[in-house]
Amino acid sequence: MGEMDFENRIVSTEFTSADSDIENSLRPKELTDYIGQEKVKENLSVYIQAARARGEALDHVLLYGPPGLGKTTLAGIIANEMGVNIRITSGPAIEKQGDLAALLTNLQEGDVLFIDEIHRLNRSVEEVLYPAMEDRALDIIIGKGPSARSIRLDLPNFTLVGATTRAGQLSAPLRDRFGVILRLELYNHKELSSIVRRSAGILGIDIDEEGALQIASRSRGTPRIANRLLKRSRDFAEVKYNGVITKEASDDALDRMEIDELGLDSIDRRLLITMIRNYNGGPVGLETIAAAIGEEAVTIEDVYEPYLMQIGFLSRTPRGRCVTPLAYRHLGIEQDGQQTLL
Ligand code: ADE
Repeated sequence: MGEMDFENRIVSTEFTSADSDIENSLRPKELTDYIGQEKVKENLSVYIQAARARGEALDHVLLYGPPGLGKTTLAGIIANEMGVNIRITSGPAIEKQGDLAALLTNLQEGDVLFIDEIHRLNRSVEEVLYPAMEDRALDIIIGKGPSARSIRLDLPNFTLVGATTRAGQLSAPLRDRFGVILRLELYNHKELSSIVRRSAGILGIDIDEEGALQIASRSRGTPRIANRLLKRSRDFAEVKYNGVITKEASDDALDRMEIDELGLDSIDRRLLITMIRNYNGGPVGLETIAAAIGEEAVTIEDVYEPYLMQIGFLSRTPRGRCVTPLAYRHLGIEQDGQQTLL
């Protein structure tokens, strides 16, 4: 258990190189092709139209929500709809102030700078970002010691699009500098099924409506997982089901990948079962759960919990996490309080 398992999960939301080519070809380029996230789309479309009409760069945008929901895709759409270039980087990739300075000074008027995992920027880099966002200025210190002096360079108007799994992880001064803050939600089955059918169309995969719905309902509200399950189901369909992803074919594929009807995999089940067996279903603290199953607390919080909470299997209380009766029922474990030794 541990990192390897997490990375190899078919339902991992982690973006892997296997996703990249396909995911890029599947990314919608325009807001009208982007399925779901209706509130986000409506607001964003107004902001984009207004900025365009004024001939200005769009205000800085912060996108937050669980991984795999389309934050990078949205950043690409923003750039495309504004008719500007996009530069893509991530918090951990910007190590020094100079790295960020190089990125900023290479931007053209109106460009989008996309910083994924923006909560992972280090403090000294973040400090360069403040005047860049606020005054479109870059303060550079030349020289060392007593003769050091600071000069200010003007930057082009640009739009910073930041993405993070949780807005709460961002420092307040950084969060306050975003004019637009948008929260992405997990997708419902209907939306995911539309995404699956759209992807199948682009990839030339034969799938029927029930097959698409089957994949959708086992994708934990996450397009990245839906697209991955689509590809694996295609393998089963081609080898065993005449190339068409029917309900039967996708059922077979998903069962073989040990993903249950709700999209839970062995790690989710282990998390719940550990909480039940060792802690009588809770309340139990996040750190305790993390230690018990050998995952990091932030991984549990960002990756496992959002979906388990969305389907009502976990609840958060002031005293810790609790497994709900619904989850007991799903796992086929009887919930009879203190007496039973599971
Ligand atoms: N692929 C991934 N996310 C998508 C979305 N929201 N709409 C369309 N295609 C997608």
